[in-house]
Amino acid sequence: MFLNVLLVLLQVQVPGVPEHRITNIFEPLASPAAAEKNIALFTLAITGAIFLIVGGLIAFTIWRFRSRPGDDTNQEPAQVYGSNQIEVAWTVIPILIVFVLIGVSARVIASVQNASPPKSMLKVKVIGHQWWWGVEYPDYGIVTANEIHVPVAKGQNTATYLQLQSLDVIHSFWLPQLAGKTDLVPNRTNYMWIDPQEPGVYVGNCAEYCGTQHANMLLRVIAQPKSEFDQWAAAQQRAVASNSQAAQGKAAFESLSCVNCHMVKGTPAVGKFGPDLTHLMSRQTLAAGVLTNTREHLRAWVNDPQEAKPGSLMPSLKLTDKELDQVVSYLESLN
Ligand code: CUA
Repeated sequence: MFLNVLLVLLQVQVPGVPEHRITNIFEPLASPAAAEKNIALFTLAITGAIFLIVGGLIAFTIWRFRSRPGDDTNQEPAQVYGSNQIEVAWTVIPILIVFVLIGVSARVIASVQNASPPKSMLKVKVIGHQWWWGVEYPDYGIVTANEIHVPVAKGQNTATYLQLQSLDVIHSFWLPQLAGKTDLVPNRTNYMWIDPQEPGVYVGNCAEYCGTQHANMLLRVIAQPKSEFDQWAAAQQRAVASNSQAAQGKAAFESLSCVNCHMVKGTPAVGKFGPDLTHLMSRQTLAAGVLTNTREHLRAWVNDPQEAKPGSLMPSLKLTDKELDQVVSYLESLN
Protein backbone atom coordinates (compact mmCIF):
# COMPACT_ATOMS: atom_id res chain seq x y z
CA MET A 1 0.00 0.00 0.00
CA PHE A 2 2.72 2.41 1.01
CA LEU A 3 4.57 1.57 -2.17
CA ASN A 4 1.43 2.23 -4.14
CA VAL A 5 1.02 5.69 -2.68
CA LEU A 6 4.68 6.38 -3.22
CA LEU A 7 4.35 5.35 -6.86
CA VAL A 8 1.37 7.62 -7.31
CA LEU A 9 3.28 10.47 -5.70
CA LEU A 10 6.29 9.88 -7.90
CA GLN A 11 4.73 8.83 -11.16
CA VAL A 12 1.53 10.54 -12.08
CA GLN A 13 2.83 13.11 -14.46
CA VAL A 14 0.87 15.16 -16.92
CA PRO A 15 3.03 15.80 -19.98
CA GLY A 16 4.36 19.33 -20.02
CA VAL A 17 3.13 20.16 -16.54
CA PRO A 18 5.79 20.59 -13.88
CA GLU A 19 5.13 18.68 -10.71
CA HIS A 20 5.75 20.33 -7.37
CA ARG A 21 6.17 17.10 -5.53
CA ILE A 22 8.30 18.33 -2.69
CA THR A 23 6.04 18.78 0.26
CA ASN A 24 8.48 21.28 1.67
CA ILE A 25 7.45 24.37 3.58
CA PHE A 26 10.85 25.89 2.82
CA GLU A 27 10.16 26.05 -0.91
CA PRO A 28 7.01 28.17 -0.97
CA LEU A 29 5.31 28.95 -4.28
CA ALA A 30 2.44 31.11 -3.01
CA SER A 31 2.21 34.25 -0.87
CA PRO A 32 0.79 32.73 2.34
CA ALA A 33 3.41 29.98 2.29
CA ALA A 34 6.18 32.52 1.65
CA ALA A 35 5.12 34.65 4.63
CA GLU A 36 4.95 31.54 6.79
CA LYS A 37 8.37 30.37 5.64
CA ASN A 38 9.91 33.63 6.83
CA ILE A 39 8.36 33.33 10.25
CA ALA A 40 9.45 29.69 10.44
CA LEU A 41 13.05 30.68 9.63
CA PHE A 42 12.95 33.51 12.18
CA THR A 43 11.67 31.15 14.88
CA LEU A 44 14.24 28.53 13.92
CA ALA A 45 17.04 31.10 14.09
CA ILE A 46 16.08 32.21 17.61
CA THR A 47 15.42 28.73 18.98
CA GLY A 48 18.57 27.47 17.20
CA ALA A 49 20.62 30.17 18.93
CA ILE A 50 19.10 29.20 22.29
CA PHE A 51 19.92 25.57 21.57
CA LEU A 52 23.53 26.42 20.73
CA ILE A 53 24.00 28.60 23.81
CA VAL A 54 22.43 26.12 26.24
CA GLY A 55 24.02 23.07 24.59
CA GLY A 56 27.36 24.85 24.38
CA LEU A 57 27.30 25.81 28.08
CA ILE A 58 26.40 22.26 29.08
CA ALA A 59 29.18 20.82 26.90
CA PHE A 60 31.66 23.35 28.24
CA THR A 61 30.68 22.65 31.85
CA ILE A 62 30.94 18.90 31.41
CA TRP A 63 34.35 19.27 29.84
CA ARG A 64 35.71 21.99 32.14
CA PHE A 65 34.61 20.37 35.40
CA ARG A 66 35.22 16.75 34.46
CA SER A 67 36.84 14.59 37.10
CA ARG A 68 40.60 14.56 36.90
CA PRO A 69 43.24 12.33 38.42
CA GLY A 70 44.19 13.67 41.82
CA ASP A 71 40.72 15.17 42.54
CA ASP A 72 39.64 14.72 46.10
CA THR A 73 36.58 12.50 45.52
CA ASN A 74 35.61 12.44 49.16
CA GLN A 75 34.83 16.12 49.26
CA GLU A 76 31.65 17.71 47.89
CA PRO A 77 32.15 20.62 45.50
CA ALA A 78 31.35 24.09 46.81
CA GLN A 79 27.54 24.44 47.22
CA VAL A 80 26.17 27.67 45.77
CA TYR A 81 22.59 28.80 46.45
CA GLY A 82 20.72 31.59 44.77
CA SER A 83 21.72 34.59 42.72
CA ASN A 84 19.10 37.27 42.22
CA GLN A 85 20.74 38.66 39.10
CA ILE A 86 20.96 35.33 37.34
CA GLU A 87 17.46 34.28 38.31
CA VAL A 88 15.93 37.55 37.12
CA ALA A 89 17.90 37.27 33.87
CA TRP A 90 16.79 33.75 33.06
CA THR A 91 13.19 34.59 33.84
CA VAL A 92 12.94 37.89 32.03
CA ILE A 93 14.93 37.04 28.89
CA PRO A 94 12.83 33.94 27.95
CA ILE A 95 9.63 35.91 28.58
CA LEU A 96 10.84 38.62 26.21
CA ILE A 97 11.78 36.03 23.60
CA VAL A 98 8.38 34.34 23.84
CA PHE A 99 6.59 37.67 23.44
CA VAL A 100 8.69 38.59 20.42
CA LEU A 101 7.83 35.22 18.80
CA ILE A 102 4.12 35.61 19.64
CA GLY A 103 4.04 39.15 18.31
CA VAL A 104 5.82 38.37 15.04
CA SER A 105 3.70 35.23 14.45
CA ALA A 106 0.46 37.06 15.20
CA ARG A 107 1.41 39.79 12.74
CA VAL A 108 2.06 37.28 9.94
CA ILE A 109 -1.12 35.31 10.70
CA ALA A 110 -3.17 38.52 10.70
CA SER A 111 -1.62 39.76 7.46
CA VAL A 112 -2.43 36.44 5.73
CA GLN A 113 -5.96 36.25 7.18
CA ASN A 114 -6.89 39.86 6.58
CA ALA A 115 -5.47 40.20 3.08
CA SER A 116 -8.25 41.71 0.99
CA PRO A 117 -9.25 39.45 -1.87
CA PRO A 118 -8.64 40.67 -5.42
CA LYS A 119 -11.75 41.33 -7.51
CA SER A 120 -11.13 38.37 -9.79
CA MET A 121 -10.84 35.80 -7.06
CA LEU A 122 -11.97 32.25 -7.64
CA LYS A 123 -14.20 30.74 -4.98
CA VAL A 124 -13.90 27.06 -4.20
CA LYS A 125 -15.68 25.07 -1.53
CA VAL A 126 -13.72 22.13 -0.12
CA ILE A 127 -15.63 19.55 1.88
CA GLY A 128 -13.82 16.99 4.00
CA HIS A 129 -15.12 13.43 4.01
CA GLN A 130 -13.68 10.22 5.39
CA TRP A 131 -11.38 9.90 3.30
CA TRP A 132 -11.63 12.15 0.31
CA TRP A 133 -12.14 15.79 -0.60
CA GLY A 134 -15.30 17.16 -2.18
CA VAL A 135 -14.55 20.19 -4.35
CA GLU A 136 -17.21 22.61 -5.57
CA TYR A 137 -17.07 25.77 -7.65
CA PRO A 138 -20.33 27.55 -6.74
CA ASP A 139 -19.92 30.25 -9.42
CA TYR A 140 -19.35 27.65 -12.12
CA GLY A 141 -21.73 24.90 -11.02
CA ILE A 142 -18.83 22.44 -11.00
CA VAL A 143 -18.56 19.54 -8.58
CA THR A 144 -15.47 17.38 -8.52
CA ALA A 145 -13.25 15.61 -6.00
CA ASN A 146 -9.71 15.43 -4.69
CA GLU A 147 -8.31 17.84 -7.30
CA ILE A 148 -8.59 21.59 -7.25
CA HIS A 149 -7.93 23.30 -10.56
CA VAL A 150 -7.00 26.95 -10.17
CA PRO A 151 -5.57 29.60 -12.47
CA VAL A 152 -1.94 30.58 -11.89
CA ALA A 153 -1.92 33.82 -9.94
CA LYS A 154 1.39 35.30 -11.07
CA GLY A 155 0.83 38.57 -12.92
CA GLN A 156 -2.94 37.97 -12.90
CA ASN A 157 -3.93 39.72 -9.69
CA THR A 158 -6.01 36.72 -8.75
CA ALA A 159 -6.19 34.23 -5.94
CA THR A 160 -8.30 31.26 -4.98
CA TYR A 161 -10.41 31.56 -1.84
CA LEU A 162 -11.24 28.30 -0.15
CA GLN A 163 -14.26 27.70 2.03
CA LEU A 164 -13.47 24.69 4.18
CA GLN A 165 -16.16 22.48 5.67
CA SER A 166 -16.47 18.93 6.92
CA LEU A 167 -19.32 16.48 6.74
CA ASP A 168 -18.02 14.08 9.36
CA VAL A 169 -14.94 14.55 11.53
CA ILE A 170 -12.20 17.16 11.71
CA HIS A 171 -9.79 17.13 8.78
CA SER A 172 -6.99 19.50 7.95
CA PHE A 173 -6.24 20.97 4.56
CA TRP A 174 -2.54 21.22 3.88
CA LEU A 175 -0.59 22.09 0.78
CA PRO A 176 2.88 22.77 2.17
CA GLN A 177 4.09 24.86 -0.77
CA LEU A 178 0.96 27.00 -0.93
CA ALA A 179 -0.17 27.75 2.62
CA GLY A 180 -0.24 26.54 6.19
CA LYS A 181 -2.74 24.03 7.52
CA THR A 182 -6.37 24.94 8.12
CA ASP A 183 -8.81 22.60 9.81
CA LEU A 184 -12.13 21.53 8.31
CA VAL A 185 -14.50 21.40 11.25
CA PRO A 186 -18.06 20.03 11.24
CA ASN A 187 -20.72 22.74 11.61
CA ARG A 188 -18.26 25.50 10.96
CA THR A 189 -16.77 27.16 7.91
CA ASN A 190 -13.10 28.09 7.82
CA TYR A 191 -11.47 30.14 5.14
CA MET A 192 -8.06 30.33 3.55
CA TRP A 193 -6.58 31.41 0.26
CA ILE A 194 -3.84 30.36 -2.12
CA ASP A 195 -2.20 32.07 -5.07
CA PRO A 196 0.12 29.56 -6.77
CA GLN A 197 2.83 31.48 -8.59
CA GLU A 198 3.83 28.75 -11.00
CA PRO A 199 1.82 26.31 -13.08
CA GLY A 200 1.98 22.70 -12.04
CA VAL A 201 0.59 20.08 -9.72
CA TYR A 202 0.96 20.77 -6.02
CA VAL A 203 0.49 17.79 -3.75
CA GLY A 204 -0.79 17.92 -0.23
CA ASN A 205 -2.68 15.83 2.26
CA CYS A 206 -4.98 15.74 5.22
CA ALA A 207 -2.98 16.84 8.24
CA GLU A 208 -5.32 15.92 11.09
CA TYR A 209 -5.88 12.30 12.04
CA CYS A 210 -9.39 11.50 10.87
CA GLY A 211 -9.61 7.73 10.95
CA THR A 212 -8.15 4.64 9.34
CA GLN A 213 -7.40 6.09 5.92
CA HIS A 214 -6.24 9.51 7.09
CA ALA A 215 -2.84 8.95 5.46
CA ASN A 216 -4.52 8.19 2.15
CA MET A 217 -6.50 11.38 1.97
CA LEU A 218 -4.28 13.02 -0.59
CA LEU A 219 -4.95 16.24 -2.30
CA ARG A 220 -3.71 17.98 -5.41
CA VAL A 221 -3.95 21.51 -6.64
CA ILE A 222 -3.50 21.87 -10.37
CA ALA A 223 -2.46 25.41 -11.20
CA GLN A 224 -2.91 26.28 -14.85
CA PRO A 225 -2.63 29.34 -17.06
CA LYS A 226 -6.02 31.09 -17.15
CA SER A 227 -6.83 29.87 -20.68
CA GLU A 228 -6.25 26.22 -19.71
CA PHE A 229 -8.25 26.68 -16.53
CA ASP A 230 -11.13 28.08 -18.58
CA GLN A 231 -10.96 25.08 -20.90
CA TRP A 232 -11.02 22.73 -17.95
CA ALA A 233 -13.97 24.57 -16.40
CA ALA A 234 -15.91 24.49 -19.68
CA ALA A 235 -15.30 20.74 -19.99
CA GLN A 236 -16.49 20.19 -16.42
CA GLN A 237 -19.65 22.16 -17.09
CA ARG A 238 -20.55 20.09 -20.15
CA ALA A 239 -23.14 17.37 -19.68
CA VAL A 240 -21.91 13.82 -20.00
CA ALA A 241 -21.91 12.82 -23.67
CA SER A 242 -24.07 9.77 -24.20
CA ASN A 243 -21.90 6.98 -25.45
CA SER A 244 -23.66 4.12 -27.22
CA GLN A 245 -20.79 1.76 -26.45
CA ALA A 246 -21.28 2.34 -22.76
CA ALA A 247 -25.08 2.05 -22.84
CA GLN A 248 -25.09 -1.42 -21.32
CA GLY A 249 -22.65 -0.31 -18.68
CA LYS A 250 -24.80 2.71 -17.90
CA ALA A 251 -27.83 0.48 -17.41
CA ALA A 252 -25.80 -1.83 -15.18
CA PHE A 253 -24.41 1.08 -13.15
CA GLU A 254 -27.85 2.58 -12.67
CA SER A 255 -29.32 -0.75 -11.59
CA LEU A 256 -26.73 -1.12 -8.84
CA SER A 257 -26.45 0.63 -5.51
CA CYS A 258 -23.66 2.85 -6.95
CA VAL A 259 -26.35 5.47 -7.56
CA ASN A 260 -27.18 5.76 -3.87
CA CYS A 261 -23.79 7.31 -3.15
CA HIS A 262 -22.54 8.77 -6.41
CA MET A 263 -23.74 11.55 -8.67
CA VAL A 264 -23.51 11.54 -12.45
CA LYS A 265 -25.17 14.75 -13.56
CA GLY A 266 -28.17 14.30 -15.82
CA THR A 267 -28.71 10.65 -14.86
CA PRO A 268 -30.65 8.87 -12.10
CA ALA A 269 -27.40 8.67 -10.11
CA VAL A 270 -27.90 11.44 -7.57
CA GLY A 271 -26.11 10.17 -4.48
CA LYS A 272 -24.03 12.64 -2.52
CA PHE A 273 -22.24 10.45 -0.03
CA GLY A 274 -19.39 9.54 -2.35
CA PRO A 275 -17.46 11.59 -4.91
CA ASP A 276 -19.28 13.03 -7.91
CA LEU A 277 -18.42 10.90 -10.93
CA THR A 278 -19.72 13.16 -13.70
CA HIS A 279 -16.26 13.79 -15.15
CA LEU A 280 -14.39 11.03 -13.36
CA MET A 281 -11.94 10.36 -16.17
CA SER A 282 -10.72 13.96 -16.20
CA ARG A 283 -9.05 13.32 -12.85
CA GLN A 284 -5.51 12.11 -12.35
CA THR A 285 -6.13 9.72 -9.48
CA LEU A 286 -8.73 7.46 -7.90
CA ALA A 287 -9.58 7.05 -4.23
CA ALA A 288 -8.11 10.43 -3.21
CA GLY A 289 -4.66 9.96 -4.67
CA VAL A 290 -4.17 6.31 -3.83
CA LEU A 291 -4.30 4.96 -7.40
CA THR A 292 -3.49 6.47 -10.76
CA ASN A 293 -6.62 6.76 -12.85
CA THR A 294 -6.18 3.87 -15.29
CA ARG A 295 -8.69 1.26 -16.46
CA GLU A 296 -6.83 -1.45 -14.59
CA HIS A 297 -6.90 0.49 -11.32
CA LEU A 298 -10.50 1.55 -11.83
CA ARG A 299 -11.53 -2.08 -12.30
CA ALA A 300 -9.60 -3.20 -9.23
CA TRP A 301 -11.04 -0.33 -7.20
CA VAL A 302 -14.67 -1.01 -8.14
CA ASN A 303 -14.13 -4.73 -7.62
CA ASP A 304 -12.85 -4.30 -4.08
CA PRO A 305 -12.16 -0.87 -2.63
CA GLN A 306 -10.96 -2.53 0.59
CA GLU A 307 -7.96 -3.91 -1.24
CA ALA A 308 -6.43 -0.54 -2.10
CA LYS A 309 -7.93 1.40 0.80
CA PRO A 310 -8.86 -0.81 3.76
CA GLY A 311 -11.64 0.78 5.78
CA SER A 312 -12.87 2.83 2.84
CA LEU A 313 -16.58 3.55 3.16
CA MET A 314 -17.16 2.20 -0.35
CA PRO A 315 -18.15 -1.44 -0.09
CA SER A 316 -17.34 -4.19 -2.52
CA LEU A 317 -20.52 -4.94 -4.44
CA LYS A 318 -19.27 -8.42 -5.35
CA LEU A 319 -20.00 -7.85 -9.02
CA THR A 320 -19.60 -10.60 -11.57
CA ASP A 321 -16.79 -10.18 -14.09
CA LYS A 322 -19.32 -9.19 -16.71
CA GLU A 323 -20.98 -6.56 -14.52
CA LEU A 324 -17.59 -5.27 -13.53
CA ASP A 325 -16.53 -4.83 -17.17
CA GLN A 326 -19.78 -3.09 -17.98
CA VAL A 327 -19.60 -0.70 -15.03
CA VAL A 328 -15.94 0.09 -15.72
CA SER A 329 -16.68 0.75 -19.40
CA TYR A 330 -19.39 3.17 -18.35
CA LEU A 331 -17.16 4.91 -15.83
CA GLU A 332 -14.46 5.20 -18.47
CA SER A 333 -16.91 7.05 -20.72
CA LEU A 334 -17.33 9.78 -18.07
CA ASN A 335 -14.68 12.16 -19.30
CU1 CUA B 1 -8.90 13.66 6.82
CU2 CUA B 1 -6.98 13.13 8.14
